[in-house]
Amino acid sequence: MSTDPDTASRRLAFQKSYSHEHGGSWRRRSLIEDAKFETVTNYEFEKRERHSSKGGSISEEEDVFTQNGSESSPVDKELTRKYSVVITLRDSMHSLSKIIRIFENTKVTLDHIESRHSRKNGAQFEILVSCCGSRERLTSLANVLRQSSQIMDLVLLAERDTEKKETWFPRHISELNLCTHLATKFEPELDSDHPGFTDMKYRARRKQIADIAFDYKYGHPITRVQYTDEEIRTWGHVFRKLKSLFSTHACREHRDVFDILEKECGYSDNNIPQLEDISNFLKKRTGFMLRPVAGLLSARDFLASLAFRVFQCTQYVRHGSKPDHSPEPDCIHELLGHVPMLADQKFAQFSQELGLASLSASDEDIEKFATLYWFTVEFGLCKQNGELRAYGAGLLSSYAELQHALSDVPERRPLEPMTTSVQEYTDDDLQPIYFVTESFDDMMEKMRQYAATIPRSNEIRYDPYTNTVQRLDNTETLDCLARSLKGEISNLERAMTRIKSSMMI
Ligand SMILES: [Fe+2]
Repeated sequence: MSTDPDTASRRLAFQKSYSHEHGGSWRRRSLIEDAKFETVTNYEFEKRERHSSKGGSISEEEDVFTQNGSESSPVDKELTRKYSVVITLRDSMHSLSKIIRIFENTKVTLDHIESRHSRKNGAQFEILVSCCGSRERLTSLANVLRQSSQIMDLVLLAERDTEKKETWFPRHISELNLCTHLATKFEPELDSDHPGFTDMKYRARRKQIADIAFDYKYGHPITRVQYTDEEIRTWGHVFRKLKSLFSTHACREHRDVFDILEKECGYSDNNIPQLEDISNFLKKRTGFMLRPVAGLLSARDFLASLAFRVFQCTQYVRHGSKPDHSPEPDCIHELLGHVPMLADQKFAQFSQELGLASLSASDEDIEKFATLYWFTVEFGLCKQNGELRAYGAGLLSSYAELQHALSDVPERRPLEPMTTSVQEYTDDDLQPIYFVTESFDDMMEKMRQYAATIPRSNEIRYDPYTNTVQRLDNTETLDCLARSLKGEISNLERAMTRIKSSMMI
């Protein structure tokens, strides 16, 4: 089932051409713009591949405007908008049928027509048409209408979406194959500030490891990387320094699992654990799986993966010249920062809830949610036994930042999700502000309360048997859920009774 090398390189070319077009913009905005652009390129790539394998060509209808087909691109759907057109007729209402035909010919869907006497000239008529179509279709419609001799004047207005269409999101875990939209900041090929920018050997190595992620499909084992001595030295340097801080700086949840990872998963200063092995460990422990990713992922795709208990994980090692702080994620960050937390059952459940809350959220809500994620899961601090402790993966994978966060230098504020979600942040240096909660559970509760405020058109749930996100919008699904919950509650009651009776003996 592996992707052939030609397909992989074609996809890489597709994605790289995107990188060059869109590199170097403001990151927080670019995450969203990049995601939209990549959704199109990914979809177009898959479609072209399918058609070329069948030896056929793509029809104009499918290529430009697929309105009802099951394969319609999420972005195509987004581009379909409502418009109002006000047409002033030159003479009388007799020309109305011809004008309606223009709408039909340009495949713009009519929703509503009204006529009235013109406000400027009572002898003339104005037609108000509510219609729906893509921007291209509306542009074409307006051009044809303007050339019509029956029309004296034309005003075209785009309406604000009154009934907003739900943004596409993956429904089955395999659809994460489409959620691979990379942001382009900090790439060693594109950013002259990257420590590997002038190191051609490092850049070639990054490409080699990126290909593993580009080739990966759901259900495949993650290809193992034969790490070089230099990469292991970098890992070992960070591992030893961080381990010396964990007992005084890391939260209890991280420390507990880190011991297990050392005993059972080959965590040591002279071995970089393989993602496939760690994924299997997490799967048994909390149901989480790792999926290789070539770099910094868009916020929407990253959060969507969490809904399926999938963590998108880089596999390369940071440049050896700057081991103590990396502005981009690397496998040191993932393995030392994120993995121990994902092996905690409460945190795993919490992470999936965050992911589910992100599905179909607006771009604005995704941006706020990603900011909150940044200040909690990446850089959060909590109190434990009266001491400040780090649970954020960005802290637990950076010796410099972990020391800095618990020192007297930075500002620390209580986490208030409504205000924290719009706090500006820096992603290329040590953080000037950290957010603190009274406990680890307090952080999760506050985030859950915030997640519940994100608007959505339907309630959803995750079905772990089919690895599917279900909409709770029909009686059949609700009946099924009710039966399942009844069974679980009966189990819970029996277990409670058993425990209580054993305590009474
Ligand atoms: Fe991270």
